[in-house]
Amino acid sequence: MTQIAHHDRLLIIDFGSQVTQLIARRLRELNVYCEIHPYQNVTDAFLADFKPRAVIFSGGPDSVTREGSPRPPQSVYTLGVPVLGICYGQQVMMQDLGGQVEGGKISGGGGTAEFGRAYVTPADQTDPFLNGWFAEGREQVWMSHGDHVSRIAPGFEVYGTSPNAPYAITADPKRHFYAVQFHPEVHHTPNGKTLYENFVKLAGFKGDWTMGAYRAEAIAKIRAQVGDKKVICGLSGGVDSSVAAVLIHEAIGEQLTCVFVDHGLLRQDEAQEVVTMFRDNYNIPLIHADEQDLFLGELEGVTDPEVKRKTIGRLFIDVFQKHANTIEGAEFLAQGTLYPDVIESVSFSGGPSVTIKSHHNVGGLPEKMGLKLVEPLRELFKDEVRALGRELGLPEKFIGRHPFPGPGLAIRCPGEITRAKLEILRKADAVYIDQIRKHGLYDEIWQAFVAILPVRTVGVMGDGRTYDYACALRAVTSVDGMTADYYPFTHEFLGETATRIINEVEGINRVTYDITSKPPGTIEWE
Ligand code: XMP
Repeated sequence: MTQIAHHDRLLIIDFGSQVTQLIARRLRELNVYCEIHPYQNVTDAFLADFKPRAVIFSGGPDSVTREGSPRPPQSVYTLGVPVLGICYGQQVMMQDLGGQVEGGKISGGGGTAEFGRAYVTPADQTDPFLNGWFAEGREQVWMSHGDHVSRIAPGFEVYGTSPNAPYAITADPKRHFYAVQFHPEVHHTPNGKTLYENFVKLAGFKGDWTMGAYRAEAIAKIRAQVGDKKVICGLSGGVDSSVAAVLIHEAIGEQLTCVFVDHGLLRQDEAQEVVTMFRDNYNIPLIHADEQDLFLGELEGVTDPEVKRKTIGRLFIDVFQKHANTIEGAEFLAQGTLYPDVIESVSFSGGPSVTIKSHHNVGGLPEKMGLKLVEPLRELFKDEVRALGRELGLPEKFIGRHPFPGPGLAIRCPGEITRAKLEILRKADAVYIDQIRKHGLYDEIWQAFVAILPVRTVGVMGDGRTYDYACALRAVTSVDGMTADYYPFTHEFLGETATRIINEVEGINRVTYDITSKPPGTIEWE
């Protein structure tokens, strides 16, 4: 069996900052492998097993002056590896190692709480931690703290100060402990990446976390996990499940069968494209489950968005299970779970958040079917999945695709779903996407689609009256789909696209452009 290479790992202990994931992003960009774990899970035994080459303490909303506030196990300071504390992490370090932290006053009276942009000037420039810093005398940083360090711990020196943070950068150079009051991982600390780069160099990371290495390791891991058993993979045609399927196929070949459920709510030619790519190009055994009649039948007359979503989710699980049961001896279910889905966030607020939309997923399915999970993308961020897809030779068209929701066109067809409306929607969507591609805008946009509206309006074409559907074009920019802005197309583009849709798509005589951002809107219409 192939030996699984073991990478040097960096451990990020999460104290609940909103931006902990950004620390991981910065490190991955430096080709350093890291994992985020909530502080509650990091015990002495965990540390001994994880064997980090370096540790970073994230920021967090609590106050170290509070009895019972979050702490790492004290053995982290005797591992003999470099530690970097950020914001709350800095205060944890100081408090643990014999310094002092005080609550800041937010306004007036010489308060030292600081929120927003600040400038740090150097107090010492010789440590390699500061390589590439202070070239222009000062550095812009992003501060966001209520408490402040009032006395640094023994062994620490001051490396940088800001008007409100005399201990903006401190270090114990002997032990390679570094502590900064600001957030080097955010965009508003423009040179922050350099500090991470210096830190990982000091810790001896080689920067060998590449997609080539990942591919080889992931294949070895899949083989070790699966042995000679069979795996089922639900394929949606999206990037994540496609990359997972090709990777697993490379690892175990014919032991993998993909199941592609066509619910009749896919875009124009989508089903055919998926089938051709996987069955014909990759030779991956594929069950094409044409279940359009079932889904569209059950959705007949349904207009409530949540009922639509729940109906599709329930049918999807039933159908998937039915087809999966025909694969004899399958013991594993492959899923394209990504790292952001895996990170256990530290919740300080408690209480469930409001359900805006029930997302379509197959959670609960593995237990129900008695299957074990294979999740080869669990350690990757979305852009890393794309990089892996390229490494595996998937066509750019698949890799760069806009996200497409599980319930498909159902949630782009407010009101009742009919086959006729879906057909009109597919055609309009194809023209719109064609326009976007022709104008070279596809990659600038996070997601673009047409929604067919449940109203018909009067128009005039030639000499005749028309009474057809109105549609809305949607295009947004976003980083993660959590927030979004509408895309600022030119009027020329919008005018040209509206003309093409009305001319080329029978059934539509009015085109509108949706200029709602998220929040207060959502990306999809339902
Ligand atoms: P909203 O509409 O909530 O969408 O702003 C945010 C992102 O999530 C996608 N989306 C889904 N993806 N299953 C999915 O896999 C779903 O049920 C689902 N609903 C929305 C949406 O397309 C956008 O990218």
